[in-house]
Amino acid sequence: MAASLRLLLRRAVRHSYRNATDTAACRSLRPGCFSGPSPCCCFSDAAADRSTHFGFETVPEEEKAKRVYKVFENVAQNYDVMNDAMSLGIHRLWKDMLMHVMHPQPGARLLDVAGGTGDIAFRFMDYIRSQQGRKRRRAARAMQTPSWQEIANNYSTEDEAESHESQAVVCDINKEMLKVGQQKARSTSTTAGLSWVVGDAEELPFDDNQFDLYTIAFGIRNVTHIDQALQEALRVLKPGGRFLCLEFSKVTNPVLARLYDAYSFQMIPVLGEVIAGDWKSYQYLVESIRKFPDQEDFKGMIEEAGFYCVQYHNLTGGVVALHSGFKL
Ligand SMILES: C[S@@+](CC[C@H](N)C(=O)[O-])C[C@H]1O[C@@H](n2cnc3c(N)ncnc32)[C@H](O)[C@@H]1O
Repeated sequence: MAASLRLLLRRAVRHSYRNATDTAACRSLRPGCFSGPSPCCCFSDAAADRSTHFGFETVPEEEKAKRVYKVFENVAQNYDVMNDAMSLGIHRLWKDMLMHVMHPQPGARLLDVAGGTGDIAFRFMDYIRSQQGRKRRRAARAMQTPSWQEIANNYSTEDEAESHESQAVVCDINKEMLKVGQQKARSTSTTAGLSWVVGDAEELPFDDNQFDLYTIAFGIRNVTHIDQALQEALRVLKPGGRFLCLEFSKVTNPVLARLYDAYSFQMIPVLGEVIAGDWKSYQYLVESIRKFPDQEDFKGMIEEAGFYCVQYHNLTGGVVALHSGFKL
């Protein structure tokens, strides 16, 4: 009830500032809006007619979310296969790197936004289990005298309790993507600790200060108001919680950049057509990558949202960047 009321209030405030018609009104509703050197986003031409980009196309803001929904509805069934095909399996290494940097401990509570078919959440639970296994082996080595049976008895109950405490919530706007993830969880018997929630990154259906970790992998470039999604990430994280984002970014080496461009524009839509019978969705994916802010600009946006100690690592020469920041 309280969460729904808060959600309604937030929606009303956001609606007011998006519809503010003069500078004073906007300032009062959205303090800090004019603090930067660049013109206020509320009064830029783009905001005046509230248009945004969908790949290389300019579309009304309301239309972008619908189109993005359609893209992922279309690709859901082939999403995992296409991910492997398009990245030659390298997306797995990027996601492993995310886990390595996150280094979650048993008991941590993760919110994976735009979580799609659950890759990050599955990795998170695996990582926690391997941490527990390591802990168990270390403890077993320390206990020299008891029998192996006694050691196993001692630690199995403790581990079960801990693994139940660790939780990963996969939140995505698209039911079809979540459905595929849930099927994977059931078919691999890895449902424990996982929950699947339909929700918009811009208006998360969670109370404040709920999560230790917030991740968004290859999702934020699809969101219409990135600043709003970052504000929501900050809100739902506990103080001390960490924000981590994997996203396609700007390739730093000019030779690699040319090769990457040629591969993206000439190969990926073709792969989309051959494997999934869907050229257009994959054309959008490639174009949306080019419209996303580069590493430094995105770092600035995360800082502006209120995160501290923001830093990023380039992966594969900047094809992907891993940004991270803390809520203090
Ligand atoms: C490229 S997929 C990434 C899926 C997964 N994170 C991964 O790394 O494999 C992008 C996901 O973002 C979701 N998405 C797009 N806009 C969203 C929004 N506003 N809120 C939540 N999820 C959104 C899509 O439905 C899709 O599942």
